[in-house]
Amino acid sequence: MSFVVAIDGPAAAGKGTISKAVARHFGFAHLDTGLLYRAVGAKTLLGRDAVEAAQALTPEDLEDNDLRTPEVAQAASQVAVIADVRSALVAFQRHFAGRDGGAVLDGRDIGTVICPDADAKLFVTASAERRAERRYLELIEKGHDVTRGQVLEDVVARDTRDRERATAPLIAASDATEIDTSDLSIEQAVAAAVAAVSAKMPG
Ligand code: CDP
Repeated sequence: MSFVVAIDGPAAAGKGTISKAVARHFGFAHLDTGLLYRAVGAKTLLGRDAVEAAQALTPEDLEDNDLRTPEVAQAASQVAVIADVRSALVAFQRHFAGRDGGAVLDGRDIGTVICPDADAKLFVTASAERRAERRYLELIEKGHDVTRGQVLEDVVARDTRDRERATAPLIAASDATEIDTSDLSIEQAVAAAVAAVSAKMPG
């Protein structure tokens, strides 16, 4: 069986946590597509050309442990506006989505561009303040030296760039189910996502 779940939304909305839990619940594979852009962004910080880096990207590049830093997040959203970078990453994402056994992909343009025919589409949001607070706590936990103000600035800057870019901007697909996690616990958000996906399953 092939069943595709597309999960999109702005920075730090909880897509990662929800996607992993949905994949675990249904026994599907999960791809965090943000890692592709982060891996390309990380290479540009080392002086590589963004398009060349995207064209040469390998699955091993996604295992780099340093991809979760705020610097790499900013670099990712800068390379993500380049149409040739995005098109170099399409085949990898579609190949992943086409695998047998079901797949969950999370990102910004999964339900609109990468998998417009996905079986279930979710758009996960939360207020910028809630998202920044969660990301701040995550980064502090990992030992990063950041302030709440810097994290909020990073989240808002990336949201603006992601929403305003010409190619594959961040926008909810017209047939996506919106889940606002601002006032939900992780358990409540996951339950809402699982229910929305279940509702799209045959039988
Ligand atoms: O984890 P977080 O929500 O902070 O970010 P991410 O999902 O790792 O994505 C990092 C950046 O990659 C985003 O700000 C986007 O600019 C870009 N991205 C994208 O353009 N398209 C995707 N499908 C996934 C990420």
